[in-house]
Amino acid sequence: MTSSEIRQRFLDFFAKRGHAILPSASLVPKNDPSVLFNTAGMQPLVPYLMGRPHPLGNRLASSQKCVRTGDIEDVGDSRHLTFFEMLGNWSLGDYFKEDAIKWSYEFLTSKEEGLGLDPARLYVTVFEGDENAPRDFEAVEIWKQFVPENRIYFLPAKNNWWSAGDNGPCGPDSEMFYDPSPVPLGDMTHEQYVAADDVGDIVEIWNDVFMEFEKEHGKVIGKLGSKNIDTGSGLERVSMMVQGKSNVYEADMFAPVMSLIKEHAVNYSERNARIVADHLRTALFLIADGVTPSNKDQGYILRRIIRRAVLKMRMLVLPEGTPIGNNILDHYINFYAPVYPEILKTDIRTIFKTEEDKFQKTLISGLKEFDKQFSSGVDPFMLATTYGFPIEITEELAFERGLVIDRELFNAQMKAHQDSSRAGAAAKFKGGLADTGIKTTQLHTAHHLLLAALQKILGPEVHQRGSNITEERLRIDFNFDRKLTDEEKLAVETQVNAWIQTNHKVCRKEMPLSEAKQIGAEMEFGTKYPDIVSIYMIEDDQGQAISKEFCGGPHVEQTAGLGTFKIQKEEAVAAGVRRIKAALS
Ligand code: GLY
Repeated sequence: MTSSEIRQRFLDFFAKRGHAILPSASLVPKNDPSVLFNTAGMQPLVPYLMGRPHPLGNRLASSQKCVRTGDIEDVGDSRHLTFFEMLGNWSLGDYFKEDAIKWSYEFLTSKEEGLGLDPARLYVTVFEGDENAPRDFEAVEIWKQFVPENRIYFLPAKNNWWSAGDNGPCGPDSEMFYDPSPVPLGDMTHEQYVAADDVGDIVEIWNDVFMEFEKEHGKVIGKLGSKNIDTGSGLERVSMMVQGKSNVYEADMFAPVMSLIKEHAVNYSERNARIVADHLRTALFLIADGVTPSNKDQGYILRRIIRRAVLKMRMLVLPEGTPIGNNILDHYINFYAPVYPEILKTDIRTIFKTEEDKFQKTLISGLKEFDKQFSSGVDPFMLATTYGFPIEITEELAFERGLVIDRELFNAQMKAHQDSSRAGAAAKFKGGLADTGIKTTQLHTAHHLLLAALQKILGPEVHQRGSNITEERLRIDFNFDRKLTDEEKLAVETQVNAWIQTNHKVCRKEMPLSEAKQIGAEMEFGTKYPDIVSIYMIEDDQGQAISKEFCGGPHVEQTAGLGTFKIQKEEAVAAGVRRIKAALS
């Protein structure tokens, strides 16, 4: 059975049971700025689930286009997707648990009217109860007509309470799972069942939500005016089961795309191929619903998805001159146009191509720089600010090569960078300063002393690669290719403390960039500076600089009073980059 037939069977099944069939709403919610995309079939129906009468009656069904990007990192496994179609049926205060459960079971298992799935591979979960609602014995009694009691499992709210967000309609649910294994798993204890779900041996294929409660700010506040039913079933996952496949990318909407990539890729990787197959389809549907690549909201997600697909196509090494990307888009357009004609209307290929070309340019220079930095330590902040290289791409490349990117450090650097741009300061603010309170300011000055001490003890080729300073501690990342010995750490501490005690003056000077470079002031790696810069000097009695750094401050005026400097931790953060955390007491 094809996925189109499954969709049609679903709609016919519920139409026959008195449901009005709704067309899919746009992926971009019309009147709800709190979410970027429709993430479930019920989302466009929230006002009706809250009590407004629906013009088409109180039994509805649809196949709704959905985008969920929360799990984007999981795309590439056997079943996560960023775009999917959700089959759903609703009762607005009409039928409740009995019919909802009966019909979901019938549709999944009936050979005549439904999908003909094997009942012996079906498992059911129900809500175990908590302060908001009792244990759902009622659902169990209904289920017992269809599945053996030892295949029905009670689970907590984490698994079996459904809501679209922190506000709105919600309720306990009952979920159906299917076992696609070549040899059926058979009866399982509660523990075995939970373990099978954890490792993905069984796959959720349907959810019946008994939607009679309301949430506000994440808390259940009471009952709705009516007892509603909200169901959801992912078309791609169901297709995979019905078609007897072990991952969604073998189902009919994806299979030709996967073959095409496999046939042409010089450097084939299953994960990368799946990401391309998923992301191109998502991009297509987003563009069809009017989203264009940009730097905010829906446009940013689209941009990220296109760029990730382009990167993956590059990694797969698809031969130049073979328009694989276009062929994939063509497949999806032909496949989906009969159901979603909006994908014929937009100039999808041009929008895609423009974004691809833009990104190719960024990619070529960014990749070169990434490779250059690779041996001495990758600086994602510099790649982002100087080369426009998105952090996700840096992470992706780092991941491919077994490097870990410090996202926290990057975020702090970006924040400081944005704050400084916003202030329009001529002086460049040093990355990663949390605030300008006295403790942070003292640690900032100690940070300069520490860098100077590291250069003195380890060698002048040591430079800063990142920093982060809070009230409690300072953190510096610097290029160095091995662990520091205990003697070196002690020597660094002793030097910093000696400078603190001698009481050196800290002063700020403004000078032309060329002069600052000439005196050898320490620059922030990869930062572009204005013509006039601010330099902080820490000088000894003879006016000789112990430390001179490009920096916007703030700093204390003299080193006395900083207290005792102590290294708390020294560790590796990336190849050739070490990190020291230190404090003053
Ligand atoms: N609205 C039910 C679900 O998404 O599972």
